[in-house]
Amino acid sequence: MKNIVILISGRGSNMEAIVRARIDGARIAAVIANRPDAAGLQFAAHAGIATRVVDHKAFASREAFDAALADVIDGFAPDLVVLAGFMRVLTDGFVQRYTGRLLNIHPSLLPSFPGLHTHQRALEAGVRVHGTTVHFVTPALDCGPIVIQAAVPVRPGDDEDRLAARVLVQEHRIYPQAVRWFVEGRLSLTPAGTVQVADVADGPDGWTVPPVEG
Ligand code: GAR
Repeated sequence: MKNIVILISGRGSNMEAIVRARIDGARIAAVIANRPDAAGLQFAAHAGIATRVVDHKAFASREAFDAALADVIDGFAPDLVVLAGFMRVLTDGFVQRYTGRLLNIHPSLLPSFPGLHTHQRALEAGVRVHGTTVHFVTPALDCGPIVIQAAVPVRPGDDEDRLAARVLVQEHRIYPQAVRWFVEGRLSLTPAGTVQVADVADGPDGWTVPPVEG
């Protein structure tokens, strides 16, 4: 059984998708939020998962917050730490502590549009294809070896909300997939910093999910 700790800041729909996927061999050991009002905490508690809050506002520095957060995380002996809409910039020390067992999902096809407001920026840039990326976390923000991506079309008349909703459907597909690969022991970060996924075919269930209608 692999222990998974999921970090959230708000709604927690990606966390929910991972919990609902009921991945064989995975135990969701805890859901931790940096905000006491993170809505996803309620779903996790109702699902019988341990919940914790480490409120970043209670700490004077990023380092102090990350140290307290790591203490709470490590109390659950995680094999994998999953950032699911966790909207904090993490210190290098924190990231290095979890090298190879820290995943993030970002709402763009990285390396395009790191940072915030990805959907609005994609619309402004006029891209025809947008999407989402799961990656191992490295110290640089929204940057790191890519595990899986999914693309969606940008349609005439799209606004930020419509595009975000289309991307979110794909987030909920690829994040459980990436976690499943990790739990099955097929996904790893090599010492050279590249991603290895064993026995995964190309195509719809493989590296990329093709653009979908909707
Ligand atoms: C998701 O769209 C996720 O990709 C994004 O925040 C949202 C959280 O939604 N994450 C980032 O922007 C990280 N840079 P959720 O709380 O419903 O999972």
